[in-house]
Amino acid sequence: MRVVVTGAAGFIGSHVVDAFSGAGHEVLAVDAPGRSLAPEVARRTWAKVAVGPGVVAAEVDLAVDGLEAVAAADVVVHLAGRPGVRCSWGTGKAAARRDNVVATRRLLAACLERPARLRPKVVIASSSSVYGSAGRRPNREDDPLNPASPYAASKVEVERLAGSAAGSGLRTVLLRYFSVYGPRQRPDMAFHRFVDAALDGRPLPVFGDGRSSRSFTHVRDVVAATLVAAAEDLRPGIAVNVGHHEPVAVRDAIGMLTGILGVRAEIRREAPVAGDAARTWADTGRAREMLGWTATTGLADGLADQIAWHRGVHEEVRVG
Ligand SMILES: NC(=O)c1ccc[n+]([C@@H]2O[C@H](COP(=O)([O-])OP(=O)(O)OC[C@H]3O[C@@H](n4cnc5c(N)ncnc54)[C@H](O)[C@@H]3O)[C@@H](O)[C@H]2O)c1
Repeated sequence: MRVVVTGAAGFIGSHVVDAFSGAGHEVLAVDAPGRSLAPEVARRTWAKVAVGPGVVAAEVDLAVDGLEAVAAADVVVHLAGRPGVRCSWGTGKAAARRDNVVATRRLLAACLERPARLRPKVVIASSSSVYGSAGRRPNREDDPLNPASPYAASKVEVERLAGSAAGSGLRTVLLRYFSVYGPRQRPDMAFHRFVDAALDGRPLPVFGDGRSSRSFTHVRDVVAATLVAAAEDLRPGIAVNVGHHEPVAVRDAIGMLTGILGVRAEIRREAPVAGDAARTWADTGRAREMLGWTATTGLADGLADQIAWHRGVHEEVRVG
């Protein structure tokens, strides 16, 4: 199978490239590392991803460049974009629009331009943030959407574009990812910031009081769901939650994390982030039914895995 992965220099995308390449597929890895929230990190990841077996890497800015080669695939896994609620306020709003909405609109249009029998299936990253905060029960895919930040609004727009492309004959699938963590997690994300701070002996920077909870989902599980979604014949335009079924409070996750690290870390409280959900909670019924998927990595094991990765990176930096 010829697979295109966009966002291939990113956290989730780099793991997805590794998985497709490891399974023997031909992969066109696409990214514009300069558009990353952390361009230096993306460039380092890019250099590693590009040398995988069967992988060809192409620097393409999806918001401006020609996309014929990107659309010429059996499957496009579209993970490129501007992630993050916090950075989407202020000047970040234009970047969220450009790299999420404009890039996706252009990608879908390029796929639709191909003759019907040569159009790829397109698996697209959406986000739990489209729901806003969960209430007393987990969010199901047919719940009303309630975006509370420019980032979330951009993902709602991405979903609308995917729905309309499905109506025009493109096989699109939306995966609503929930707080992904694990090796290579983005430096702006909570666990990355906590582990780095703890390893450096600094207080852990926590937004709000730590009572908010998340369906934290290990990247290994996210990759597994993404590969199944790429392979299965699903109703075009369908959205599927890709999240762990048990939410955990941030302060409990910190307790686990410091326990694994064997430190008593001080907490530095920072103002809560506008638009951040008090709770995300994935209903996983559809993922079980349509993908035969459920998250299997518990938070303690997943955190141990992420911490081992951070220790390796710190060691690499130490020995130069
Ligand atoms: N990490 C999470 O917890 C999470 C949760 C929900 C949804 N998502 C979504 O999953 C996707 C991947 O997230 P991630 O955490 O791996 O982010 P990431 O920032 O690590 O990866 C995104 C990549 O997209 C690239 N990119 C941005 N704009 C581009 C453009 N115009 N053209 C080409 N490449 C471009 C960046 O350079 C970056 O390497 C994003 O769409 C994100 O919104 C992530």
